[in-house]
Amino acid sequence: MILKRLGDLAAQPADPLLSIIGAFRADERPGKIDLGVGVYKDASGATPIMQAIRSAHGRIADLETSKVYLGPKGWPGFAEAAKGLILGEGEAAGLSGRAVATPTPGGCGALRLAGELLRRGRPDAKIWASDPTWANHKPIFAACGFEMVHYPYFDRDNGLLVEPMLAALEGAAPGDVVLLHGCCHNPTGEDLTHEAWSAVSDLIIRKDLLPLVDVAYHGLGDGMDKDLAGMRALIARAPEAIVTYSFSKNMGLYRDRVGAIMFLGQTKEEAAAVDTHILAAARQSWSMPPTYGEALAYLALSEPALRTAWIDELAGMRARVAGLRAGAARALGERFGNDRFGFLTRQKGMFSMLPLSRDDVSALRDRHAIYAAPDGRINICGLPEDAMDRFAAAVADVVGA
Ligand code: LMR
Repeated sequence: MILKRLGDLAAQPADPLLSIIGAFRADERPGKIDLGVGVYKDASGATPIMQAIRSAHGRIADLETSKVYLGPKGWPGFAEAAKGLILGEGEAAGLSGRAVATPTPGGCGALRLAGELLRRGRPDAKIWASDPTWANHKPIFAACGFEMVHYPYFDRDNGLLVEPMLAALEGAAPGDVVLLHGCCHNPTGEDLTHEAWSAVSDLIIRKDLLPLVDVAYHGLGDGMDKDLAGMRALIARAPEAIVTYSFSKNMGLYRDRVGAIMFLGQTKEEAAAVDTHILAAARQSWSMPPTYGEALAYLALSEPALRTAWIDELAGMRARVAGLRAGAARALGERFGNDRFGFLTRQKGMFSMLPLSRDDVSALRDRHAIYAAPDGRINICGLPEDAMDRFAAAVADVVGA
């Protein structure tokens, strides 16, 4: 259909996650609690600039003597450092020679380039994603012309659905893409176990599927190496793989937009050829990446003192999230008188899904000034330590317990 005027376009529905930011800000009730968008918060409710990043800021003024273009690979050394972080220092480090990395504006930029690369090389592939998955996965791949199909992954009663997931993926055709969350699954917090990673990896290799692993919360689950162990073991076996990586959360660089896409090819030469397509797609999208945040991340990754400070602070954030999970599970357990919320301590990262309907989520907001995502996802970091009982009482109120 051709519209006479662009003004005839119907307005789009609000983004389910981003609209929470505005609604929360506009709420004037004291004691309001924001469990919406996935940003880390400290005990005071602030999203701090990490110390290593603060120190790096001070250094950039000396390092950056011009704003002239740096080229498609961005800040010198950043892409290689990001690749090193993705592969780690264990066995997967040996894949480095046949892997290429390119900086992107955040994890979304990396996902978009993944979609553009697939459009060039696998236009007929289906993209298999978990049910549920991050709300922006489907729109990004749809914008690149792909149909997204879902494999069962999680339900509130049974947790991780490994057998149904494997059964569904048996229906994938060779060349189809399997989108996995590297760690700290968004929105469920339910990660693949070691055994599940192995079983899914076996299936991916046997059926010649292409793994696409999205890593947005590295370091916020169990630790830097543990969080990516499943992914690294998978890609070490795969002839080809794509990894999309975000520094928004683990370096707190949200609005600086720092991410990377890594492609692993069968050979160094094939990877280099694919990289020319990734760079061409970037050129068509944003031409060259923003480098300020890349410079900050590069310094935090490459200067030993800053790297240690970053890893230590991230470990503190991880411990805080685990503590909040335990606190919420305790308060809800006491309020409900059962272990219905015990899953909170098993799950990883910032998110878990509470057994709340859309109406429950609205009631939580309207009656208690507590904001969650429409699907019942909560950002655990938004829970004030001294408000756990109030939170538990509010949940009990809306679910009618
Ligand atoms: C989230 O899931 O809340 C975050 O990844 C922020 C976003 O862009 O949606």
